[in-house]
Amino acid sequence: MAILKILKYGDERLRQKCKEVSKVSKKVKTLAQDMLDTMYVNNGVGLAAPQVGENLRIFVIDVSMDDEPLNPLVFINPKIIKKSGAIKSNEGCLSFPKAYVDVRRYKNVMVKALDINGRPFVIEAKDGELLAKAIQHENDHLDGILFIDHSRNIFDAIEVLRQNNLPSIEQDKMLEEKELEEEILKQESESKE
Ligand code: NI
Repeated sequence: MAILKILKYGDERLRQKCKEVSKVSKKVKTLAQDMLDTMYVNNGVGLAAPQVGENLRIFVIDVSMDDEPLNPLVFINPKIIKKSGAIKSNEGCLSFPKAYVDVRRYKNVMVKALDINGRPFVIEAKDGELLAKAIQHENDHLDGILFIDHSRNIFDAIEVLRQNNLPSIEQDKMLEEKELEEEILKQESESKE
């Protein structure tokens, strides 16, 4: 077991596109286990390899609650094969200590990946459950995309980053996501009626 150092926002390695894992070797398994240990020690829900300085397409997630048994999930070479709907999500990230921002996400996703033993599996996460959001958040890390790029309100995001002494938003990285935003606004106006 090893606890790894988590890179903070501003480190260029968080913006790199990660490489596919060619073989689920003993080294890859050890890295995945160390990532889980690092995530648990830091009370995180997910952690991606680039956050510990590894340029590989691997992330780990555990969405179990405090009173539930641990449910570690390892995703190697993941691919989101289906996505639909839209939802607002208030997210943080272990690379952005204490900073939480409202972002846009798909409501439902289906992902295929290899597990820690190199076996393929498929997971579907629906209705904007935590797992659905976590899969999108972590999968983005593998392409150098960060949750703040999905911010609904750039001014709020700038303020949250400033308050937490983090580097400012990278405006050229912001995602437009017009359709997701329209769907979220529609839901919000319907819930007010
Ligand atoms: Ni993150």
